[in-house]
Amino acid sequence: MAEIVIVADAEAAGDLAADAVLRRLSRATTPTWGVATGSTPLSTYRAIAARDHDLSGVRAFALDEYVGLPAGHPESYRAVLDRELVHPLGLNTEKVHVPDGSHEGLESAGERYEREIADAGGIEVQILGIGTDGHVGFNEPGSSLASRTRVKTLTEQTRQDNARFFDSPDDVPRHCVTQGLGTISRARHLILLAFGEGKAAAIAAAVEGPVTAAVPGSIIQLHPSVTVFVDEAAASRLAHADYYRHAYENKPRWQVL
Ligand code: GLP
Repeated sequence: MAEIVIVADAEAAGDLAADAVLRRLSRATTPTWGVATGSTPLSTYRAIAARDHDLSGVRAFALDEYVGLPAGHPESYRAVLDRELVHPLGLNTEKVHVPDGSHEGLESAGERYEREIADAGGIEVQILGIGTDGHVGFNEPGSSLASRTRVKTLTEQTRQDNARFFDSPDDVPRHCVTQGLGTISRARHLILLAFGEGKAAAIAAAVEGPVTAAVPGSIIQLHPSVTVFVDEAAASRLAHADYYRHAYENKPRWQVL
């Protein structure tokens, strides 16, 4: 079972997730970090930045990228990661991999990205947010649980959710290149974060519902090493919240991430 940690707010989750990420990366022979965009991981990135670790040797892999945004577009995930992660945390831009969402060579973008991950020795620790419809990365409901990095069509729900970042809802791309659920599942540890009431249904379905392609986040149930950090609002629909709190309060000291 995934470890479910219910905390007061995103800042508290960010502190704990930062500890877990840094511990994993410092122990790894080749420090490879799977990073996510969206508002959810920001408190983790802030907490890591505040610790002033030298992360210049870390190789990072983004989960996904929009298709067809011009190079340097401020909402391309490459640009978002540069702004929110690479510069504040002192990562080396050359070691930050993002799927290639340009139209040229799109057919091979997935395969090329899979090779980059494999050449780096796989991903040690992967940060995940979750969409309101249960998507992880940009694997929309119905995505194969074994899928690899490939082009996907975004749901209208996801386009609406992400429209706030664009001048007009019409500007949100219709396609993306995303790590597959099978790709994500091969990371050695997963950290899923979710905050706010709007994520409560997706978290309940991912953590306690059936494992199903209809809820891509439910892949965490098949993974041997997962931590889920949620605030009270995102945890509000979990049937076994009391047990998760009890288990965390009684966590053996030796059982660190
Ligand atoms: C996008 C990203 C996901 C992210 C999701 C949730 O769809 N591709 O990786 O988890 O948004 O975003 P937020 O964290 O802003 O709620």
